[in-house]
Amino acid sequence: MKSSDKMKIGVLYGGRSGEHNVSLCSAASVVSALDQDKYEVIAIGIDKDGRWYVQDKAEIVPNKDFGQILSLKKRGKWLVNHFEQENKLHVYNIENNNEEVIVDIVFPVLHGTYGEDGTMQGLLELAMVPYVGADVAGSAVGMDKDIAKRLLKEADIPVVPSITISKHQWEVNSGIIIQDALCTLGMPLFVKPLCTGSSVGVNKVKTKELLPEAIAFAFQFDTRIMIEKAIDCREIECAILGNENPSASILGEIIPNHEFYSYEAKYIDPNGAAIKIPADIDETLADLIRTAAVKGYRALACSSLARVDFFLDKNSNEFYLNEINTLPGFTSVSMYPKLWEASGLKYSDLLDKLIALALERHRNKMNVKTEMFS
Ligand SMILES: Nc1ncnc2c1ncn2[C@@H]1O[C@H](COP(=O)(O)OP(=O)(O)O)[C@@H](O)[C@H]1O
Ligand SMILES: [Mg+2]
Repeated sequence: MKSSDKMKIGVLYGGRSGEHNVSLCSAASVVSALDQDKYEVIAIGIDKDGRWYVQDKAEIVPNKDFGQILSLKKRGKWLVNHFEQENKLHVYNIENNNEEVIVDIVFPVLHGTYGEDGTMQGLLELAMVPYVGADVAGSAVGMDKDIAKRLLKEADIPVVPSITISKHQWEVNSGIIIQDALCTLGMPLFVKPLCTGSSVGVNKVKTKELLPEAIAFAFQFDTRIMIEKAIDCREIECAILGNENPSASILGEIIPNHEFYSYEAKYIDPNGAAIKIPADIDETLADLIRTAAVKGYRALACSSLARVDFFLDKNSNEFYLNEINTLPGFTSVSMYPKLWEASGLKYSDLLDKLIALALERHRNKMNVKTEMFS
């Protein structure tokens, strides 16, 4: 295939997020596995301030924390634009005679805020360009642990008891909030920001005295936070793939070597956690969890892909859906692609499938009328 006939995939990575570096690492794997015979890869790095930089070439470099990352070089001043009905994304370098890059489909390999939360998806919808991953609504509710929990409850999916508070409520009512948390949830507790990922801002609290500190810490990362009953649990994950008829992978287990699956256990300590695929779980229970994963995916209006994470109570064997990640870690050793690999779908085929799903959803959306009489 000639270079001009190839589909131009814009891989977006980095971004204004606590998971910026993780994204550089996921993007390195995606870029190296995209089939160069079918696709022309255009790497577009977004810095921590949200500025876009089209890269001269997608360059994978060694990194001490993550092994390999996609480098992000800041060259030029790029603006994003689109032309109505053209279904392509245009990016210009206004410092270089409006040098222009045109993208047919976007793969936002972005985790967390301004990438996984519906904001980037909104921009791509306005540009009418096909993109991989959940759309605006699915991304936004998947990112918000409180809204997600309410939708999951409505779908009769078990979730961990919790209370959600805003910064303002905390400032005016801290005493009542602490009492309420202790009475309704007991101890130990988990405190977490509503809209982060990678365990950023998450703490386990074992005594009443340490609760205010954990709450203040979580408020550094969000204006609303969740106080949740701590479950003595195994952590089970399921990969979902599909639009209208999503399939569930076999289950995997994360076995942290830390008090919980913290940021340190995830990314800093090389022995922070072990992954076990398939998870050692009774078949009937595994099927119930996989069914709940698909149900949860639908309840949150997800499409394309998501990794659905569960807590399995070690004592009662009851499970709870903890969260749905709409752009999960995507390195070749991350749980999401590993689960598909173990279910018979190899990494590069998974990328092909995601691109096909993005195009399918885009076609369906483009067939929807925006006005009555046209
Ligand atoms: N209620 C809970 N009970 C037990 N462990 C929890 C609880 N909430 C969070 N954790 C631990 O903290 C980790 C990160 O929390 P999580 O809610 O998944 O946030 P994130 O979106 O940052 O991954 C979990 O993987 C788990 O190890
Ligand atoms: Mg998590």
